[in-house]
Amino acid sequence: MRIGLAGLGTVAQGLLTLLKENREQIIAVCGQPIDVVAVASRTRREVDLAGADFSHDVLALAKRNDVDVLVELMGGEGIALEFVDAALNGGKPVITANKAILASHGDRLFELAATRGVMLGIEASVAGGIPIIAALTRSLAGNSVERVTGIINGTCNYILSAMSDRGERFEDALAKAQQLGYAEADPHFDVGSIDAAHKLAILAALAFGIPFDRAAVYAEGITDVTPDDITYAKELGYCIKQLGIARRTAAGVEMRVHPTLVPLGTMLSSVNGVMNAVQVNDNATGSLLFHGPGAGGRATASSVLADLLSLVRGDRPIRRLAAATTQRVLPIEAVESAAYLRIPVIDQPGVFARIATILSEHGISIEGAIQRERAIADRKVPIVVVTQPVREAVMIKAVAALQALPAVVDRVRRIRVEHAAA
Ligand code: HSE
Repeated sequence: MRIGLAGLGTVAQGLLTLLKENREQIIAVCGQPIDVVAVASRTRREVDLAGADFSHDVLALAKRNDVDVLVELMGGEGIALEFVDAALNGGKPVITANKAILASHGDRLFELAATRGVMLGIEASVAGGIPIIAALTRSLAGNSVERVTGIINGTCNYILSAMSDRGERFEDALAKAQQLGYAEADPHFDVGSIDAAHKLAILAALAFGIPFDRAAVYAEGITDVTPDDITYAKELGYCIKQLGIARRTAAGVEMRVHPTLVPLGTMLSSVNGVMNAVQVNDNATGSLLFHGPGAGGRATASSVLADLLSLVRGDRPIRRLAAATTQRVLPIEAVESAAYLRIPVIDQPGVFARIATILSEHGISIEGAIQRERAIADRKVPIVVVTQPVREAVMIKAVAALQALPAVVDRVRRIRVEHAAA
């Protein structure tokens, strides 16, 4: 099996190492070696290519007739999408880790692969080394999935864990995640939840048969999560995780990525550092939790290798559910969730009562609350409340009413709370 490899970054280097280290294992499993014979990348890095040809011309690689499969590990859209299109159009199987192109063009690319009768392998596109694509499309294919909940961005989880466990500053934790090779080239893709939204769109498409549609995912980043929020959450019995949630409800499918309070003691609450975890709830198993490294060269290369072995063994390409056009995606305003509210107020009699009244006027019940006994500065004191679940549209109105109170002296901060985590 001869590979044409596009890209020479962290995952591509991990793949080159793994193919070398596991050569005997690979031959034992599939009866032949798998070799990279040609590499193309816009940047030439000091990497041992083990004799493979190197070129800067990525699109020419897609058209070479001396390779059996093209592996796309460049990332980003633009040239990577052109490369995948050219390879599939040329009748070559493609294996890609590119969540960005799949989240926006997945339907078209799968259709193109099916028309040409070739495999499109995407295991490496979500959750690094966790075989979640195989789980959804093969192992659980006959089950009706109700919900997929995941910590699917290693960089965000690394940052939130470092802030929570070691009191690190956001910027320092991000810099470390970048040094360790977890972060995207543009870290805004991680901390702004674009990366996680891409991955959630892929998981939802596979779990529910809805179109691949990144634009339909509601995404909120982690840059507004403060050390105070982490401390108050702990006092109330929660930690803060960046969760992706895709859920089937009677009204439609929810797709959202945002910072979330998760109850301490649940398995998702103990997924730390760069680790990812994906919880699948379905009508046969109840609940499964897949846990493992969600980023990094070797771990993600493991998923690329799995697709390569599938190809060599002649496994049937993954089958998507027939597109369920009847399942609409719910707008975020229609989604129901509980909330943590941090309300900065001037410490004066009756403020808590006024807050409770506003929440009650909107039909929102309070589940827990903290009020600092002493003001922090200038008589300012945060009141922290956890509510029962309520529709987003109602919560938005309630937060606006709280914000309008004269005693509320700074921005009201809201973070959603998820009690259904494993
Ligand atoms: N930047 C991504 C993450 C890499 O942190 O999870 C894996 O997609």
